[in-house]
Amino acid sequence: SHNTYTMTHTMSVFRVTGIQARGVLSLQRTTSFLSTNRVEYRPSTTSERERAKSVSAYYNQPAVEAAAKKRTVRLTPSAILYHGRTDDEATTLKSAQYLQKELPVRIAKRIMAFRDLPFIVGCNPIILGVHELYIRAFNILNSYEPIKTREDEINYSRKLKELLEDHQDVVTQLAAGFRECRRHIQNEELVARFLDKTLTSRLGIRMLAQHHLSLRESKPNYVGIINVTMKLKETIERSCQFVSQVAEHKYGRVPQLKLSGHVNAVFPYIELPLDYILPEILKNAVRATIESHSEFEMMRLPPINITIASNEVDFIIRISDRGGGIPHHLMERVLDYNFTTAKEENSDSTQEGHVFSDMMEAVNPNPAGGPMHGFGFGLPTSRAYAEYMGGSLDIQAMQGIGTDVYLRLKHINSSSASFRI
Ligand code: ADP
Ligand code: COI
Repeated sequence: SHNTYTMTHTMSVFRVTGIQARGVLSLQRTTSFLSTNRVEYRPSTTSERERAKSVSAYYNQPAVEAAAKKRTVRLTPSAILYHGRTDDEATTLKSAQYLQKELPVRIAKRIMAFRDLPFIVGCNPIILGVHELYIRAFNILNSYEPIKTREDEINYSRKLKELLEDHQDVVTQLAAGFRECRRHIQNEELVARFLDKTLTSRLGIRMLAQHHLSLRESKPNYVGIINVTMKLKETIERSCQFVSQVAEHKYGRVPQLKLSGHVNAVFPYIELPLDYILPEILKNAVRATIESHSEFEMMRLPPINITIASNEVDFIIRISDRGGGIPHHLMERVLDYNFTTAKEENSDSTQEGHVFSDMMEAVNPNPAGGPMHGFGFGLPTSRAYAEYMGGSLDIQAMQGIGTDVYLRLKHINSSSASFRI
């Protein structure tokens, strides 16, 4: 979009010219848009003003460094569940005060990680754009007056909601940015560590922020983002429907998606990470099934079998396809960031693609929206999310036949729920 272009473009100017950035920006603006000789840069909107502020902070950020040194306070899901129960003013206020302390610390740590990236990566305009988004978020949240009244809390929450929207495309942006510049890095491990940490920390931040916002609107069966009586079958079916729509749009045909096992399982859980992970795995299974069966075999598209198991400790979802499996020599790589067998020329990623379907978060969900594949971020991101939630993602391929993906996640109400958000 035009917006993205200007942002990344101005950021690269900024990086090159350093402290002169404001001058350069203004010059550019005046010559290209205003055609006057004014060199002074006058931000015209609030966001531009914020932008200028965050840009200048880039070179003077003791506040970021101080915040990054603090420890994060991570919560167990059951703490979130039980502390959030009474939806009164005091709870909402306390929740906002926790975020006010916590979010700048977490965001500052992300900023430090961007600063530690190899120079050639950090200079990539798209990655720099994301880096700048975090600096801006830090400045906004860190300079917010202490929340004392209901009115403070309402304003803070409004700001938080805006930030969540501004950051909606971060995963896609990182996927695109790393695809552009990762050939310059030899060290796969370094990229994986940065992305695992950045993406899971972001998931945590977004869950906490979303939880706070949801606490304020009391929805039956929910405590914040926790669905107290989640029917796993329904959550999976929602993803199946979404992926079927996308596939129908792209290929004109869809294999059957069949559910079996503990289809009546009901337990408290957070749908947000499932709504990220399930569509990614399902898309892969659907794509493999369709691409390994020519159109003339239409009648014989083998179904994708989804099996659910739930026990006291965890729940497991197995997605089993007959899409030909994964060649032996690629098994090692399918969990690498940016590894994909999608061809560049007909890959969806050349369009304005999104890595994730963002079913929960999309402001205007596009019913046929999102590509089937593209950046090679689906599997590694899903595994990182699963591990962050105390679980795992395992792939078993039967070369020549098909693939089984096992998504295993800890229950949030069991005594063995050891993970923290
Ligand atoms: P993308 O879908 O963008 O390619 P992923 O990380 O989701 O990225 O998958 C990486 C690669 O792993 C795919 O390009 C594909 O080659 C392989 N793959 C993943 N799931 C399957 C599957 N169920 N069957 C066959 N190959 C698969
Ligand atoms: C993100 O989504 O990238 C965030 O970190 C959200 C936060 C700025 C509220």
